Amino acid sequence: MNGEAMKRIAVLASGRGSNFQAVIDAIAIGEIPAVCCGLVTDNPSAYAITRAEEAGIPVFIVDFTACPSKEAYEQALLAVLRSLGADLYILAGYMRIVGTGIVHELKGRMINIHPALLPSFPGLHAQRQALDYGVKVSGCTVHFVDEGMDTGPIIVQTCVPVMEGDDEESLAGRILEKEHRCLPAAIRLFCEGRLEIRDRRVFILPKPGNPSVGSRRIP
Ligand code: GRF
Repeated sequence: MNGEAMKRIAVLASGRGSNFQAVIDAIAIGEIPAVCCGLVTDNPSAYAITRAEEAGIPVFIVDFTACPSKEAYEQALLAVLRSLGADLYILAGYMRIVGTGIVHELKGRMINIHPALLPSFPGLHAQRQALDYGVKVSGCTVHFVDEGMDTGPIIVQTCVPVMEGDDEESLAGRILEKEHRCLPAAIRLFCEGRLEIRDRRVFILPKPGNPSVGSRRIP
């Protein structure tokens, strides 16, 4: 990275962790110029923990059910996130709403992946929402996290067709394949210092030494 220090990234995940795995794999092949300094999870039985252990990534469990209140959980979570000192915090299947204290502190340094083309279908069960609505196209979105539910400035989006025979599972699988490419692509852009937020819009800056405008073909 032109002699620059590698970025430190941390991932928050609550379950299966296939997006986390895509990040691990992208780091391993040099696609993401960063080190993953921790997996943080609210769920002690998340499969993401196994993935972290296999990759030698430190695991930090902040068990929501063991905390006396949501405030206590948020405080414990913030303490862990601070201790990691990451440049970027990635919500990759983290199934809780991040409290405003954390959002404020990490503004511009926290991103989320959502399995729909925002602003359509925010929140839970995005694939089912898309099917129920009857859209012909859906996809995924990587965005910065703000105080709202899936409302932050959008970094990358990719679409997939919705087929007539689709059920929630088949559509989710088609979207997930795109998620596994979009998320590493967005992280890479962040790590390269190529994302600039102006109001609601995120501009992708050209690579240093390359005068062309930012690519619109990501991933
Ligand atoms: C993904 O569809 C992600 O977009 C959503 O939750 C799912 C997590 O899947 N936020 P995984 O745990 O990364 O496999």
